Amino acid sequence: MKSTYNLRERINHKCIKKCNPEKRKETTNNDICKVTKSELDRLPIRCVGNWAYQKIYRLNQYFGIFSNAMKNKWRGLNYIELCSGPGRCILRKTGEEIDGTSLSILRHPSFNFIKKAIFIDKDETIIKILNKRIKNLSINNAYGVIGNYNDIDILENIFSDLEKDFLNLIFIDPTDCSVPFETIKFIKSYFKYVDFVMNFPYGTDLIRNLHGAIQNITWPSRVKYLKFLGSNDFFERKEVKNLAVLPNKQQLVLEFFIEYIKNLKSIGLKYCESEQVKNYYMLLFASGHSKGLELWKKSQSINPDEQREIVFDD
Ligand SMILES: C[S@@+](CC[C@H](N)C(=O)[O-])C[C@H]1O[C@@H](n2cnc3c(N)ncnc32)[C@H](O)[C@@H]1O
Repeated sequence: MKSTYNLRERINHKCIKKCNPEKRKETTNNDICKVTKSELDRLPIRCVGNWAYQKIYRLNQYFGIFSNAMKNKWRGLNYIELCSGPGRCILRKTGEEIDGTSLSILRHPSFNFIKKAIFIDKDETIIKILNKRIKNLSINNAYGVIGNYNDIDILENIFSDLEKDFLNLIFIDPTDCSVPFETIKFIKSYFKYVDFVMNFPYGTDLIRNLHGAIQNITWPSRVKYLKFLGSNDFFERKEVKNLAVLPNKQQLVLEFFIEYIKNLKSIGLKYCESEQVKNYYMLLFASGHSKGLELWKKSQSINPDEQREIVFDD
C-alpha cells in the first residue's frame, strides 16, 4: 500500500515567527506558545525548530514498518511515548503548524495494528490538551497520563495497564540529557519485549556543558550527565579529561555517545543505530533483537529532506 503522510500542515496567521531564545521567555511557557493557538483545533501548540519535522518523519517511518512487520507475529503491539508534548506543534521559522509525534502516530494508517497507546508527560496542562486532541480523533485505545521519567514507581504504575507479553515500542523525547539511565534499565527489565527510539539531544545540551561538567565537579549539569550516562567512572578517566580541555568539543561528545551505546548494550539492547537530526540531536534506536535493527535500517533509508512521501509495506 502506498500512502502520503499527512501532518495536517497549515499556516498559523498569528505566529510572530522567528522568536529567539530570549523572546521565547516571554512568548512561551514550557515551550507552549502564549501568543497563538492551533488554527486547526483552537488548542495550545508547542513552539519548535524546523528540524522537528525530521524527527516526526523518521519516527513515523519506523512505526509503519515495525507495526506492519510485527502485527501478526505477536499477540499484540503497544506504543508508549515518554515526553509526549501536547500533540501539535508550530515551526517558529515559518509559522507552519503540524501534528507532533503523538498525534502523528495516532493518525498513522498503521495505528490500527496497535492494541494500546499511552502518552506520558510530566506537565498536567500538556496532558489535558493532548487528551482533548485524542478525544477529537475518537480514538479509544490511547490516552495521555501524567508521569515523570525520574519516578520509576509512577512509570511502573502507568505500565501496569499494558499487557506484558505484547511487543512494545517506546519513544522517549526529552529536551535535554536528563533521562536517568536507571529509567532506561527499568523499562528494559519491566517489559519482556521492548524496542526503543530515543532522542539523544547532544547539540542543545552536551556540546555546551559536557566539558565544563568534566573539568569542574560543581558544574550544575554534572550530576544530571552522570545519571544519564550510567557510568560512574567516565568523568574520572584520563583520556576523557584530556578531551575536555580541547577547544573542539565534538570528540568529547562522541566519546560520551559511544559510552552510552556501550551501556545500552550491557543491559541487553545489543542492536543500536542512530540517525542524525540536523546538528541538534540523534534519534537513537535500541533493541534486543536483530530483526528490530533490520527494520530500523529499512525504515530510515529515505531521507526526510528529499522525500516527504512515506511508503508503507503491506
Ligand atoms: C521535546 S518535548 C516533546 C515533543 C513531542 N514528543 C513532539 O514531538 O510533539 C519534551 C516534553 O517532555 C516533557 N518533560 C520534561 N521533563 C519531563 C519528565 N521529567 N518526565 C516526563 N516528561 C517530561 C515536557 O513537558 C515536554 O512536553
